[in-house]
Amino acid sequence: MKNTETFEQLESNVRMYCRDVPLVFDTAVGSKIHAEDGREYLDFFAGAGALNYGHNDPRMRDALVEYLSANGVTHGLDLHTSMKRHFLESIKRDLFEPRGWDYKVQFTGPTGADAVEAALKLARKATGRSKIVSFYGAYHGMTAGALAVSGSRTRRVAGLSSDVIFIPYEDGPYGEFDGIAFLDRLARDQGSGSELPAAVIVESVQIQAGVYAASNDWLQQLRKWTQDNGVILICDEIQAGCGRAGDFFGFERSGIQPDLVTCAKSISGFGLPMAIVLIRSQLDVWQPGDHTGTFRGNQLAFLTAQIALSYWRNEEFLKLLSNNIAAMERAVAGFAEIPGIAAGRCRGMIAGVDFGRGNAALAKDAQQRALQAGVLVERCGPNGEVIKLMPPINTPTDQLEQGLKVIGESVAAALAK
Ligand SMILES: Cc1ncc(COP(=O)(O)O)c(C=O)c1O
Repeated sequence: MKNTETFEQLESNVRMYCRDVPLVFDTAVGSKIHAEDGREYLDFFAGAGALNYGHNDPRMRDALVEYLSANGVTHGLDLHTSMKRHFLESIKRDLFEPRGWDYKVQFTGPTGADAVEAALKLARKATGRSKIVSFYGAYHGMTAGALAVSGSRTRRVAGLSSDVIFIPYEDGPYGEFDGIAFLDRLARDQGSGSELPAAVIVESVQIQAGVYAASNDWLQQLRKWTQDNGVILICDEIQAGCGRAGDFFGFERSGIQPDLVTCAKSISGFGLPMAIVLIRSQLDVWQPGDHTGTFRGNQLAFLTAQIALSYWRNEEFLKLLSNNIAAMERAVAGFAEIPGIAAGRCRGMIAGVDFGRGNAALAKDAQQRALQAGVLVERCGPNGEVIKLMPPINTPTDQLEQGLKVIGESVAAALAK
């Protein structure tokens, strides 16, 4: 029997990532994942950003085993638990206090998409307005509200909200755009046909679009426009956050303070499901139960998240991260020079190697060559023409460099064909 036959027979056609990776995985540690074929792969896919600290981080794993062995509560709805208290105190100590933030934490359903739903709903409730500004190329999830603010035409289905104004992002596959001037015009021009939006939802790095990072200046102007016009700024940090773009939050280097921040994926640090919205305190206009759900109290995720947050106080971790960022930037600058590559883009620990419009087959060929050579990577971009490099941010630098070398060779081989 082919080792993927069970999945082909029984799993819905909707499955996706596995189609580019015809392997069956069984164990994983750090940046390495082992498959039933007996080989070990460097995991530069990292659960699409849910494994920023790698697989089975030993401190987190041991803490989980100890907690379960002591019969710690595992599911708690939104009841008070000792573990949730510890987690909230960690968020205050590690995220809010160092930044001087006065925010509340909302626990949503465990996927990023539900955090986005909650943020959109809250912005509409707080302002009494309905429109949302989003950007071409945006990806915010697959539930109806999140999909309505996502740019991909091919993923859209009939019946999504039309209360969304899409404008091009600062940069993208079709070039740069002055979205701030557009928003200014929209606010001032009585003929715009549109009332002011409730919110602007933005990613500090549009990763699914092909890894386009917003500049500090653009984010600052967007913050100013939203502030001047009483519009809520939602930063969706589900993929770019938790260290992926180099700082804990991807928008951090711009110095802006959003009104709402969505986090999921790597917030638990261990790949356990958890999503939250950070809410500027005066915007916390929810009434009890306005956005509820059964799985909002994943105590195991609360436990591992505290350990993940503590790494941001650990000098050794920060040094490794800074060395890794330098290695990524160096490698991507080299990839950009390979004849036939349209561009290489890197922000912190996320990078895209862009084969250019119409060249998804070449990107796929490079991805398959990398897999053969032992490195697992995903593709992104409007049609999968960008190789997306997303290693765990704490990958030992020698492993990172080894994986990047394989990527470079695979890209060159695909183009030389
Ligand atoms: C920026 C962003 N927002 C939201 C989501 C949706 O998160 P989830 O897949 O956990 O629902 C994703 C997922 O890739 C994302 O990248």
